[in-house]
Amino acid sequence: MPSTTDLRTREDEKTIFFLLDQEYYTSQEIFEREHDRIYTRDWIYAAHVSQLPRKGDYLMFRYGGEEIVVVRGDDDQFYANLNVCRHRGYRLCEEEKGNVRSFVCGYHQWAFNLDGSLKRVPQMPDGVYFDYCKYGLRTAQVEVWHGLIFVCLAEEKIQPLSERLADFEGMAARFAPERTKLAIEKNYLIQGNWKVVVDNAMECYHCAGNHKSLCAVVDVPGLMADIKHWLADETGDGPTNLGVGGMRLREGMQSMSHDGSLICEKLLGTLTMEDVEAGATGGVMMVPNFSYSAFYADHWWNIAIRPKSATETELLYSWFVREDAVEGEDYDIGKLIEVGDNTQVEDNVLIERTQRGMNSRYFLPGPIGSDVEPALYDFVANYRKNMG
Ligand code: FES
Ligand code: FE
Repeated sequence: MPSTTDLRTREDEKTIFFLLDQEYYTSQEIFEREHDRIYTRDWIYAAHVSQLPRKGDYLMFRYGGEEIVVVRGDDDQFYANLNVCRHRGYRLCEEEKGNVRSFVCGYHQWAFNLDGSLKRVPQMPDGVYFDYCKYGLRTAQVEVWHGLIFVCLAEEKIQPLSERLADFEGMAARFAPERTKLAIEKNYLIQGNWKVVVDNAMECYHCAGNHKSLCAVVDVPGLMADIKHWLADETGDGPTNLGVGGMRLREGMQSMSHDGSLICEKLLGTLTMEDVEAGATGGVMMVPNFSYSAFYADHWWNIAIRPKSATETELLYSWFVREDAVEGEDYDIGKLIEVGDNTQVEDNVLIERTQRGMNSRYFLPGPIGSDVEPALYDFVANYRKNMG
């Protein structure tokens, strides 16, 4: 008989692990609650240092309904400020990127230093009306890990990334992402809850049936075995967990291109042609504020999610090559992004159709296979813990 209602028994709930209930994928109220319980508790990928080469270069991005401005300061350190003027709350930066000497509010022209401190208030001198030092912008913590800029909105200091990612030092030294540059980025607006996007990015159960060009170069069964192995290694404690490795290539493939041939003549870090022949890969995944960096001998890419509303998510896909590589000479942009972009476009269809079904009043959470979808299993378990 077809199932028209939830036939799960108490016994099932004890022995089978289920997806979250519908409201977690559709409710704006839960999306708001995630701000305190998830987004503000851990590091969020913001950008790569090559995107802000000069003092005063800034870029603004949105995360969970907030706008965060990352800037290279006068001392060449990176700072992050919320895009909210301390006077009346006016939106400080209108442009998504630019270069400034200070942030000057368009409403009454209060000026803030790049580090967020208050610099000048027209007609109200420091100490006469109030102490400037008390009225800086709300800042976020910033840490740069091998060229990747992360921010954190938590009030209290959280564990430094250098400690969290200590096990990845060897890999980072090998691929040296700090000596690369952004070649191109794409921002996909997906009609799906951020957890559906993360779920899709964390399992490869769907790959064989949906990603022809990916399966031509990536060893999908091998990757699925790797994912199980990475998860067995991690502790599962604390607010986050990590996946640890790259997307392994099929035998004989040199890079993640449509035909598996090299994408860029200039190899990353300390890699040699021997590493290329061996299909060298590496990777680091941050959860629950999801980002995943996958490294190959000649390029690397990063995907990062940016929750927008209960049913909308931005996904930023960025591709990097060695800092001295020249487009048209050493690499071709079309070849660089082809497999990743194809795969993401295919994924976006899967995500949006899933969300459509989840919006239905007939949606019921299905079982998660801990063997074939182990990362999802882990993600949902951690999410439940974080949300209390
Ligand atoms: Fe920014 Fe008044 S709101 S200066
Ligand atoms: Fe996919």
